[in-house]
Amino acid sequence: MIVLGLESSCDETAAAVVTAEGKILSNVVLSQIEEHAPFGGVVPEIAARAHITQMDRLVDQAITEAGISFNELDAVAATAGPGLIGGVLVGLMTAKSIALVCDIPFIGVNHLEGHALTARMTGDVKFPYLLLLVSGGHSQILVVEGVGKFRRLGTTIDDAVGEAFDKTAKMLGLGFPGGPAVEKAAKNGDPNRFDLPRPMKGRIGSDFSFSGLKTAVRTALQNLGDTITQQDKADLAASFQQAATESLCSRLENAITTFKTDYPTGTQLVVAGGVAANQTLRNKLNNLCASANLELKIPLPALCTDNGAMIAWAAIEHLKLGRSDSLDMAAKARWPLDPNAEPAPFAGKKA
Ligand code: KG4
Ligand code: ZN
Repeated sequence: MIVLGLESSCDETAAAVVTAEGKILSNVVLSQIEEHAPFGGVVPEIAARAHITQMDRLVDQAITEAGISFNELDAVAATAGPGLIGGVLVGLMTAKSIALVCDIPFIGVNHLEGHALTARMTGDVKFPYLLLLVSGGHSQILVVEGVGKFRRLGTTIDDAVGEAFDKTAKMLGLGFPGGPAVEKAAKNGDPNRFDLPRPMKGRIGSDFSFSGLKTAVRTALQNLGDTITQQDKADLAASFQQAATESLCSRLENAITTFKTDYPTGTQLVVAGGVAANQTLRNKLNNLCASANLELKIPLPALCTDNGAMIAWAAIEHLKLGRSDSLDMAAKARWPLDPNAEPAPFAGKKA
């Protein structure tokens, strides 16, 4: 089985060809970072237009690099949500058109499920497992019980953690995307110089909050006055990174307790999303998993960030269970993985 997967829900236009055995035949990702950088964040209209301009070419490139032709495809998949609706529509309509022309099944994939299942494409990961999903749009802890079966243990009540990295970088004038820039600056910084809050630490449950931390960074910056040195920036970046990752891990500790109690056969923690690239977070997760006796599984950075292979793979998991979607499937701006989870208190669209 050979499947083409398309991704266009945020600021990456991506197409990939993957086999049922999890072999990635091609994986083309075009980042729109340069187009959004002047605005310090993703601008939905710019993103949608860039997806339209690039998608056809990327699909061609993915097919060519895979060394196949369109008539060798067994199915085609695209992210159907959640995400920026203008972009989602581009990938979805492209995939539906290919399905019609090639007369093959179409699968509309939940972007978050794409992140969630990637670790099963690249490694020996078995249900149920605990998932920490940390990206620019989402911060969630879920139990992945099976394909299409999720239990949410925690979500952000305000900003996503990647967003907090991006906003901190913007305040410090470090550029976009903020995560890698903050991490780089933090290398020369003192993580103990600024006493920043660890949001939600010590509270029951596993929900996150990052907006208070962001405000604390702004206040610390204002207190430094008009002349801010490179060392000040490095120290503040390091202090923020320390606080954000400590907060993530303390919320995860509670989730691990619940996971171990409710799913005694589960032995693995999977991490997905762009923030999984952060080395400080990785070190902390390594320690946490060692003491909780869990196996830590983090896909390669290129597969943690948005890509088409994760969409093709999630589709393959559904196809193996005999599922595909109708061509009238609608794009969804909001599509929670666990439909039974209560919206987090005060949560907006990111719940
Ligand atoms: O998963 P992703 O590529 O896109 C979605 O948001 O879906 O994640 C991008 C996010 C951005 O907020 C970026 O700043 C963050 O991941 N990020 C990082 C690092 N690399 C990317 N955050 C912290 N440290 C990093 N090294
Ligand atoms: Zn993503």
